[in-house]
Amino acid sequence: MDRDRRFESSGLWAVILGGSSGFGLAAAKRLAQAGINILIAHKDKEGAVETLIKPHFDEIRAQGVKLVSHNVNLFDDDGRGEVFESIAANAGPGKVHLFMHSIAAGACKLMVDAKAPDFRGQALKGLSEALSAHGVQASPDILKTAVNDAFHQKGCDALYTLAESKIPYKDNLLEQEDLEKTVWMMGYDYLLWGRELLKDGLLSKDARLVAMTSEGNEVAWRGYAAVSAAKCALEASSRAMALELAPYGARSYVLQAGITDTPAGNAIPNFDLMKAQARLRNPFHRLTTPEDVAEMIYALCLPGLSWTNGAVITVDGGESISGI
Ligand SMILES: NC(=O)c1ccc[n+]([C@@H]2O[C@H](COP(=O)([O-])OP(=O)(O)OC[C@H]3O[C@@H](n4cnc5c(N)ncnc54)[C@H](O)[C@@H]3O)[C@@H](O)[C@H]2O)c1
Repeated sequence: MDRDRRFESSGLWAVILGGSSGFGLAAAKRLAQAGINILIAHKDKEGAVETLIKPHFDEIRAQGVKLVSHNVNLFDDDGRGEVFESIAANAGPGKVHLFMHSIAAGACKLMVDAKAPDFRGQALKGLSEALSAHGVQASPDILKTAVNDAFHQKGCDALYTLAESKIPYKDNLLEQEDLEKTVWMMGYDYLLWGRELLKDGLLSKDARLVAMTSEGNEVAWRGYAAVSAAKCALEASSRAMALELAPYGARSYVLQAGITDTPAGNAIPNFDLMKAQARLRNPFHRLTTPEDVAEMIYALCLPGLSWTNGAVITVDGGESISGI
C-alpha cells in the first residue's frame, strides 16, 4: 500500500518507551513509514534482540528514517539517564513530535488466595447427567478433557466459561512493592517523562503525548489490581498533562485498546479465556491488533486532529461497549 511521507524531511522524532513489541513497535513502524525518525527504549533479553527484534528494527531503518534504540531497564536511573541524554543528543530541541509510553512492566498477581464457587465442575456434572438421560455416558472428567481440547486445540471460543486457562495465577500474592513499582512505571511515569521532555525544550511546538490503557481501568480482572490502579493513575496524569502542557502546545491522550495478543497480554492470568471472550463479544469478532492502534496514533500526529486533548480514546472495534 502506498503511504504518504508527510513527515519526510521534517526532522521530527517519535520517542517510544516500550517500542520493541506490541503497540510501541507497531507505532514505530507506522510513523517511520510517514518519515518520522524513531528512538526506542525497551528491555529484552540479548538473545531476543538478535533473533526477534532486529528484523523489525531493520524494517524501520528500511523506511529511510533514523532509528536509535536502547535496551535498558527503565526502572533504573542509569537506564533512564541514558535514554534521556540520547533524546537530547539525537532529536535535539523542539523535535520530539510524539512521545509514547507503552511499557508493560506490571505485577499481575492476586490480592488473596483465589476462592470461587465451582461453576465449571457443576456445569460439567450437569452436562454429564443430561447426556446420560439421552443414553450417552461421559463422566465429568472426560467432558473436562474434551472441553479443554476443543477450546485450546480447535478454537471453540464459546467454551471459554468451561475451559481451564493455560495461564495460571502466580504462586505468590501481590506485595506492596509490586503495587508501588507498577503504579510508578505504568501510571505516573508517563507524566514524569512528559514533563522532563517539556522542561528541556525537546517537544515540538504541537507535540503529541500518548500512553496506553485498557478496559481493566474500570472493570476488575482477577490478578490485575496493580495494573488497574496504574491505569487510573495514568489517566489522571494524562488529564493533568493535557491541561498544564496545553499552553506549551502539547496534547495528551490515553488510548484504550481492546484485548490484543502481545507478550504482556499473555502474561495476564486467564488471558487465553479473556481473548476468547473478547472475540465473541467484539462487534467485529476479532481481537484488536497493534496495527489498529498504530493507525490511530499516526492520525493523532496529523495537524487536523489537534483539537482532541486529554481524552481516553477507545481503539477496540466497540468491544468495551458491547454486551454479548
Ligand atoms: N495487550 C493488551 O491486551 C493491552 C490492552 C490494552 C492496553 N495494553 C497496554 O499497552 C501497553 C503496552 O503493552 P503491550 O501489550 O504492547 O506489551 P508488549 O509486551 O508487547 O510490549 C511491552 C514493551 O515494554 C518494554 N519493557 C518492559 N519492561 C521494561 C523495562 N523495565 N524497561 C524498559 N522497557 C520495558 C518491553 O521491552 C516491550 O517493548 C501496556 O501499558 C499495556 O498495559 C495492553
